[in-house]
Amino acid sequence: MSSTFYITTPIYYVNAKPHLGHAYTTIVADVICRYNRMQNKESFFLTGTDEHGDKVERAAKNEGLSPRIYVDKISGLFKDLWPELNIEYSSFIRTTDPSHIAVVLKILQKIHDSGDIYFSEYEGLYCFGCERFYAERELVNGKCPDHETEPETISESNYFFKMSRYQDWLIDHIRQNPEFIRPERYKNEVLSFLKEPLEDLCISRPRTRLEWGIPLPFDDKFVTYVWFDALLNYVSALGYPDGALYRKFWPSAQHVIAKDILKPHGIYWPIMLRAAGIPVYKNLNVHGYWNIDESKMSKSLGNVVEPLSLKNIYGLDAFRFFLMREMAFGLDSSFNEEALVARVNSDLANDLGNLFSRVITMAHKYLEGIVPEIDPETEGELRGSLKLQASAAVEEYEKAMENFSFHKALISVWEFISLMNKYVDVTAPWVLAKKKTSRKELEFVIYDLLEGLRVVSGLIYPVMPDTAKTMQYHLGQDHEKPFYDLTNIKTWNGIKAGTKLPKSITLFPRIDKKKMESSLPEKKTGTITPDIKPEITLELLSNIDLRVATILKAESIPGAKKILKLEIDLGETRTIVAGIASSYTPEELEGKQVIVVANLKPAKIMGVTSNGMLLAATDENGCTVATLDKKVKPGTPLS
Ligand code: MSP
Repeated sequence: MSSTFYITTPIYYVNAKPHLGHAYTTIVADVICRYNRMQNKESFFLTGTDEHGDKVERAAKNEGLSPRIYVDKISGLFKDLWPELNIEYSSFIRTTDPSHIAVVLKILQKIHDSGDIYFSEYEGLYCFGCERFYAERELVNGKCPDHETEPETISESNYFFKMSRYQDWLIDHIRQNPEFIRPERYKNEVLSFLKEPLEDLCISRPRTRLEWGIPLPFDDKFVTYVWFDALLNYVSALGYPDGALYRKFWPSAQHVIAKDILKPHGIYWPIMLRAAGIPVYKNLNVHGYWNIDESKMSKSLGNVVEPLSLKNIYGLDAFRFFLMREMAFGLDSSFNEEALVARVNSDLANDLGNLFSRVITMAHKYLEGIVPEIDPETEGELRGSLKLQASAAVEEYEKAMENFSFHKALISVWEFISLMNKYVDVTAPWVLAKKKTSRKELEFVIYDLLEGLRVVSGLIYPVMPDTAKTMQYHLGQDHEKPFYDLTNIKTWNGIKAGTKLPKSITLFPRIDKKKMESSLPEKKTGTITPDIKPEITLELLSNIDLRVATILKAESIPGAKKILKLEIDLGETRTIVAGIASSYTPEELEGKQVIVVANLKPAKIMGVTSNGMLLAATDENGCTVATLDKKVKPGTPLS
């Protein structure tokens, strides 16, 4: 097995803002990259933006900006979005980067010198949206299948790349490497396209028609066709031809794309590589399209879902989980908010969330929150059953992940979760806890459940990294260390006896449909939003000392229905009182990181002195405490 892994996304056009489709592909690349890192493979994840061509030139003009300023602006939107979706790419390439341009020039010259580029006149049907000529047979009712517009007939002299020369080689390569393009339906689509003679590819545009591109090294009256320029990003980003990254990662290259750009990636790109004397990529992984309400969601049709608004409403991990679980990789899927809510409530809140809080709560209730020492001699009907089921689940999971079948990988994890839920019901730890003689069995049952959860936390890491870390923390593991080593995950008995478990938390609160409707931006709610308060100076603001605090303990105060007494770690331990009892149980709060006004004058509430104030938002559904996206050191100031 190769010890390196190189994954790429398409580089996105900067003629529109990022949307759900882009987010999906990039999350897929992030998931598979995290999975490969779990296997200890040295991994490189490339994404970026495609910035030349008439599409981009026209979009800049529409905004009244120069192409250079316009591309900087939109490329920045993509670059800023990915970290917000917890996407950890290694490098972000822009086709306007000088290092990329240098590689394009080098490869064009090389292919020209070897005689694969010629000059000729051509008349054809051109779609400006796709920036390419179409053969009559590719059109649907005379229209471009993607843009649903009639292509225009244009005739001009241009440079052509002799793709036809490589047609037989490509057919052989695809046949001999059945995994080259996957899933199979897309391999078949490419092979069926290759049954007809391949036309040579027009790789230039006259500068009289298009300025915004890379001038050809052998004729500067022309610029490079945007696809010929863009595809080369996959090697230029690695420092082709001599870069250390290129040598290390190119042999393991895998691309992720959607079906809309199968032809350039399945036909032009391998042929370009072959003509340039570069080994072809290992796999092309092709997914389907997200449709919204049955109509295709894309920038050209205008019905675009803003990915960030969804993750803000439902939580980032829930959003990532939904995308990976709902779409069978390769097939189209329908995006629908109700389906997302249903998945969060059933798979995350019910199946995983309940199991998690049930097990940790039982470990506290029956075993004082200390991981027991397991006697390997303990006999029992169910002894070893979870261990076997976990190893079967991991095996299925690995097989599915290798094939980019993310939904299948998650199904195998959730089957295991459901077995664990059954195991709790069958073993009934609450019954075992009643008899002294069943103590050993009780310890072994709880231990195996904790271990099962540890396995689950590792397996969900690529899709839900934050949840995985939270679970690890509550299982007493060092969640800062790379706990997601697959070998470690697979080894049963990973949790050490004597480990002190932090209190349980709610991993995924159930989404209340009513609450969900009220949180959607376009729907008006009955809440009156107060007017913005009068302006203050920065100096005044800097006097307010906001700190991150971890709730160590939460308890109700006898006689007080609305408030809870909280013991918090804010770099020092303090007591505060918060009016949140109608929206949170004490168990839900313990372990949570919150934001506290640390320098508020102490006040006595129901006989308890409160040394600070917790921040929370209140609407007609109750209150929601302000938390952070990631865990940080208690006491960290907010600025
Ligand atoms: N710039 C080219 C790619 C050049 S790669 C050398 C391009 N850019 S794009 O901005 O149009 O992005 C297309 C890609 O965005 C798709 O292949 C897919 O990865 C993603 N998606 C865009 N809309 C999508 C959906 N509705 N559903 C799923 N993915 C989609 O083409």
